Amino acid sequence: MDCVTFHVNGRPTTVRDVSPTTTLLQYLRGPLRLSGTKEGCAEGDCGACTVVVLDTEAPGQPRWRAVNSCLLLLPLLHGKQVFTVEGLRQGDGDEGLHPAQRALVEALGSQCGYCTPGVVMSMVEACHRTDLDAPWKLDDQMCGNLCRCTGYRPIREATVQIAGSRPQDRLREAEPATPSPQPGLEYSTVGVRGAQRFWIPTGWDALFDILEAHPAHRFVQGATDLGLDVTKHGTHFEALVSLQGLDDLHRLTVDGARWSVGAGVKLADLEHATDHAVPPLSRMLRFFGSRQIKNSGTVGGNVCNASPIGDLAPVLLALGASFVARGRDGERTIDADDFFVGYRKTALQPGEVLARIEFETPPEGVRFASYKVSKRREMDISAVSAALRVSVDAGTITDARFVYGGMAATPARARNAESAALGRPWSAETLEACAAAIATDFQPMDDHRGSAWYRATVAANLLRGFFLDVKEHPMPRLPDRPSGTVLGGARA
Ligand code: FES
Ligand code: FES
Repeated sequence: MDCVTFHVNGRPTTVRDVSPTTTLLQYLRGPLRLSGTKEGCAEGDCGACTVVVLDTEAPGQPRWRAVNSCLLLLPLLHGKQVFTVEGLRQGDGDEGLHPAQRALVEALGSQCGYCTPGVVMSMVEACHRTDLDAPWKLDDQMCGNLCRCTGYRPIREATVQIAGSRPQDRLREAEPATPSPQPGLEYSTVGVRGAQRFWIPTGWDALFDILEAHPAHRFVQGATDLGLDVTKHGTHFEALVSLQGLDDLHRLTVDGARWSVGAGVKLADLEHATDHAVPPLSRMLRFFGSRQIKNSGTVGGNVCNASPIGDLAPVLLALGASFVARGRDGERTIDADDFFVGYRKTALQPGEVLARIEFETPPEGVRFASYKVSKRREMDISAVSAALRVSVDAGTITDARFVYGGMAATPARARNAESAALGRPWSAETLEACAAAIATDFQPMDDHRGSAWYRATVAANLLRGFFLDVKEHPMPRLPDRPSGTVLGGARA
């Protein structure tokens, strides 16, 4: 089918002869003349462009998700429902305002108003969530929306008013009684820079046919990274393949201690599932990015990007995860230690995709924590990240995995530091020896995120901090305090 079809504010929309790397924001503000959705940064940082999309991919009930329209490529909307701020009203005057809009008005949550449409759309997602049961979750819900003039207190107060209220609004009217499966798509255009093609296969054979016929393809999942190539670098992609039509990739199952996480699982869903069950994973996901980014970004996208500062990788390596690749001839399992083979390079072969990641809940008593060090605490790119894990038997360290991001061309284990721990007592002295050994494990680079000295020093200090951090609880969760408030390091 050579057109992309989706619904905007309940109205069917058909897109033809428009480059597949056009973003939803460009299309809303251009051809659709829906300029209520704003552009601030065009890179997923400010939230001015927030809209909500009905996600029907994940198993279970469809759910409304706030996403950044500035990064979302139009074909990724194929078959979906989108609502913008223009679609919320249900009548004229104040009476017609959506409850999220009314709450913001009553809390005096808007001054210049530039951020307000995006703020409202994040609040609309909050209306339709049923899991906003802790203060930090409310902050996390809104942390992807910057506002330079109002101040966040009134915005937060308005959000508290409406969170979880599930009003009978136009979004609920648009929810299908029975969700239809993701339709396939084969879309192509020819523009001044040449031809572009975009596929959403809905079966494995169709996928492998495309991969064989178009070996120069690029995969796209949530487009939270690839979208930047489009908006910031003007990259011309000739062949893009989305994996969102493959149901298997969206499954997240837990069988006893055994986890199986499909490569298409959204980061927000992994965070929710691991909140209490696998604290080192959920700790990392808390600082990962905004709610909008976690609503679009996927586990497989983050891992296969193979960035040395990809935040999931250190935790997955420390978990000893298995990466299951699928190709035309079946599946093969790649050990986590063998998955990252070079700078932005994985062990996946041409014609293979990452199907899922498997790991086990760490056994009782294992000391395990994760850390992300960046210039801002939330929503920033790591300078250094770490997942540190030890097993201790009768006071002696029997297993150690110290995995770092940002210290080498790939996420990597500090093997010398691990050796310095094995067979030694679990003590501050041993961790001091490990911290010293780190200097022989890595020769980190200098860049604008941190000098080599800074990175080496932080890596060693994280080991020292780890010893203190796991004293009271072997796998500490982040405290249940508002994520945006630092309370002098105190645990709430
Ligand atoms: Fe800033 Fe999209 S325009 S997040
Ligand atoms: Fe002005 Fe938020 S009201 S930026």
